[in-house]
Amino acid sequence: MEGLLEICYLIGSVTFIIGLKMMGNAKTARKGNLIGAFGMTLAILGTIFLFESEHTTRNAMKMVLIFGAIAIGTAIGWITAKKVEMTKMPELVSMFNGMGGACAALIGLTEFEHNLGNPTALSFIVAGMVIGTVSFSGSIIAYLKLAGKMKQPIRLPQYNILNNALLLGVLAFSVYVVLQNQSLPLAIIWILFAVAIVYGILFTIPIGGADMPVVISLLNSFTGLAAAFGGFLYDNKPMLTGGILVGSAGTLLTLAMCKAMNRPLSNVIFGAFGGGGAAGGGSEVKGTIKDVQVSDLAVMLNYSKKVVIVPGYGLAVAQAQHIIHELEKLLEERGVEVKYAIHPVAGRMPGHMNVLLAESNVEYDKLVEMEDINPEFEQTDVVLIVGANDVVNPSAKTDPSSPIYGMPILEVDKAKNVVVNKRSMNAGYAGIDNILFYDPKCSMFFGDAKKALTELVAEIKQL
Ligand code: TAP
Repeated sequence: MEGLLEICYLIGSVTFIIGLKMMGNAKTARKGNLIGAFGMTLAILGTIFLFESEHTTRNAMKMVLIFGAIAIGTAIGWITAKKVEMTKMPELVSMFNGMGGACAALIGLTEFEHNLGNPTALSFIVAGMVIGTVSFSGSIIAYLKLAGKMKQPIRLPQYNILNNALLLGVLAFSVYVVLQNQSLPLAIIWILFAVAIVYGILFTIPIGGADMPVVISLLNSFTGLAAAFGGFLYDNKPMLTGGILVGSAGTLLTLAMCKAMNRPLSNVIFGAFGGGGAAGGGSEVKGTIKDVQVSDLAVMLNYSKKVVIVPGYGLAVAQAQHIIHELEKLLEERGVEVKYAIHPVAGRMPGHMNVLLAESNVEYDKLVEMEDINPEFEQTDVVLIVGANDVVNPSAKTDPSSPIYGMPILEVDKAKNVVVNKRSMNAGYAGIDNILFYDPKCSMFFGDAKKALTELVAEIKQL
């Protein structure tokens, strides 16, 4: 039996690694996801039916509870994932991440009592519980922010000092619990749980608009880490492998997001973070804007040599990924070179634009990352910005009072012509005006992206 369980665990661990590798490419991502899910199912079933220890008892009641819980979880997960609109994916990912953290916290809360007097086990329990709880409450706040239900950052007086003091308090409390591992009241783990919930909330609420990508990735790595501590506790290999993979992938993503936002990681962890990141702020922008008619834009694009499309969150909202691909193919047929410029934090989740454009079968090598496309703008005839705002805002380079100051941007203002498609002069996620719209070489092409691009494609076809 034990040999069979080890084989299930080995298959589980290997399929996680293969699945994750396959998720690195849009073409194989779906299959990779299924392979990982298969490995997880095998590991869960193996544990339920094959795991043996001196505490293991199997009876009908336990099986009803286990499979009842699995059925409820599966139904909720399946229905939510099926029903969710593509634009709400970032919120869903945040919520699922929070649920992972909550599971790790529950393991700690239930296992505490059984491991009193065992400092090694208690150290895994406390670490997994605290980190999982912070990830849980932080992810709920991230969900509210991504869903637009918490628009402004909430900054308590001296929030940095308060948060750092609370972090030190949580660490000291955790060390105390592990060292005093014998004679502890059971309530103590619940008090630590409550303090960790408060820390998770206070850690996330002050983060301003444009800085959310970093915090989302960090919470992701926390959940992985918390699950890995569960793996250590139970000496369970797939749990350990899964936790380490999520934790390390989340950490790498956090570093990538820090680089994308030009924020040092120490700022994220120790809280000066978000200081400039309030939604709103920055200098007031004055000037005149000009708009372009669809017929003029069609001519401009049709007779260009090189066009770069900048997709942003509005493209996802409008679900205009298919029509933008049609526009790209049409222009290429007319001899225009077309590329997409991908900013690492465009949209509302890491890789959002890549996923969106892959859905409409845009060729992967047409997507060019920010560092590579920036030097190309000078030779670009038209930059067509569709539903992007913060990621092309020059204030990030020029206005030290701007909340996005320091964030690297797509330097579209170097192109010969810039056309921006959005519905109004409304701000983007960071809540600030965009001086690009008042640049003499910039024209606004107002309208919902899907509708406006459909008209544009029809107009080009007439030429
Ligand atoms: P944003 O700055 O949020 O701008 C999106 C623009 O799309 C808005 O100004 C909006 O203007 C326009 N829009 C909305 N619906 C539209 C529609 N149906 N048709 C046409 N346009 C539409 O987007 P971005 O440039 O992609 O920047 C992303 C922002 O989100 C950054 O601040 C980033 O830090 C933040 N963020 C990113 C992430 C990740 S991980 N990527 C996570 C959280 C937050 P109108 O209302 O005038 O149409």
